[in-house]
Amino acid sequence: MMSDHSNSPIFQPFTLGHLQLPNRVVMCPLTRSRSNDAGVPPDFAADYYAQRADAGLIISEATNISAQARGYALTPGIWTPEQVESWTRVTRAVHKRGGRIFLQLWHTGRISHPDLHGGALPVAPSAIKPSGQAFTNDGLKEHVTPRALETDEIPAIVEDYRHAAQCAKDADFDGVEIHSANNYLLEQFIRDTTNQRTDQYGGSIENRLRFPLDVVRAVIEVWGGGQRVGIRISPATTMPGETSLDSDPMATYGAYVDALSKAGLVYIHDIEGTTQLSRDPSGVDFVALRQRFNGAYIANNQYTLKLAEETLAAGKADLFSFGRPFIANPDLVNRMRTGAPLAEAPKEYWYGGGRTGYSDWPGMDGPIHIER
Ligand SMILES: Cc1cc2nc3c(=O)[nH]c(=O)nc-3n(C[C@H](O)[C@H](O)[C@H](O)COP(=O)(O)O)c2cc1C
Repeated sequence: MMSDHSNSPIFQPFTLGHLQLPNRVVMCPLTRSRSNDAGVPPDFAADYYAQRADAGLIISEATNISAQARGYALTPGIWTPEQVESWTRVTRAVHKRGGRIFLQLWHTGRISHPDLHGGALPVAPSAIKPSGQAFTNDGLKEHVTPRALETDEIPAIVEDYRHAAQCAKDADFDGVEIHSANNYLLEQFIRDTTNQRTDQYGGSIENRLRFPLDVVRAVIEVWGGGQRVGIRISPATTMPGETSLDSDPMATYGAYVDALSKAGLVYIHDIEGTTQLSRDPSGVDFVALRQRFNGAYIANNQYTLKLAEETLAAGKADLFSFGRPFIANPDLVNRMRTGAPLAEAPKEYWYGGGRTGYSDWPGMDGPIHIER
């Protein structure tokens, strides 16, 4: 029996900065590893994203801001004209179906491998090796000890973010999300477990937040204010790299959220628990973090329609992002609204490959035709 949820507040409009969202469902950033070695998304990425345009907001897969930012084979970039051209096809197709899409700006830092850098070491705040393996063109390879960035290299990375943010604007995205989650470069600077620097970028909370906040300021400058700039955080996530949590997450992330609020960002997108794996808050008070932020709060991690409704009713979030459910359900919003069953994507389709398991999932009523 299908049950109708049309009246659910999750499917009512929400105003996010300058954007009018038709519902409170956000499509999570999802790395799908289908770009070429030059970081250019395939032509059929436009079909994939446009098929999902019913989401209140789409956030693109994590997208490298520079060659140095890369940590996984076959992931897209946003720093060359060819990349911008391909992303423009995506935004055009999404807009044509009436959707809205932000691009997620990414630098992986130590979660990378020399194979992706012509043999050079990945960079990080400090030379601390992550656990686990990197996804290279030759399959999975053990992570290595990264090279600690020189102090005078850090402003150049801020400039890379500025350039990438401009490229995203040129590609006609509706905004950008700064990826400050999942233990990639920004979060490596934030946590005292991965940042053991002794210069102005390490030590005190103020120093550890300096580089991420410089990035935030640069991106805001490009976008003419924070109303089209969001950020993703994950204070309780230990993956990838089996990265230890900060020694005092509420002090560190509390100060971060205060600064993000002051900067005028349009939303924080919070992974509540360990990404994909658990909703255990590990001592982080997500409601308290939300209360310190002036803009919208997007809640993520293992949400269902029921949990989203309960969380909204309790006043604990504004928007809800769904990741895995969007892979095999391009019309997820409609399926949840009508109580239709959800399809499940086998894991083999998550990363790598072509159209199969990517842009060929049908909607409830058959294939979704995309006009270009
Ligand atoms: C295949 C896959 C790729 C992902 N890629 C990204 C990514 O590029 N950027 C990011 O911030 N999170 C990424 N995540 C994490 C998701 O955005 C999300 O936080 C996670 O799947 C939990 O949400 P869910 O329970 O609704 O799936 C990825 C997750 C999956 C399953």
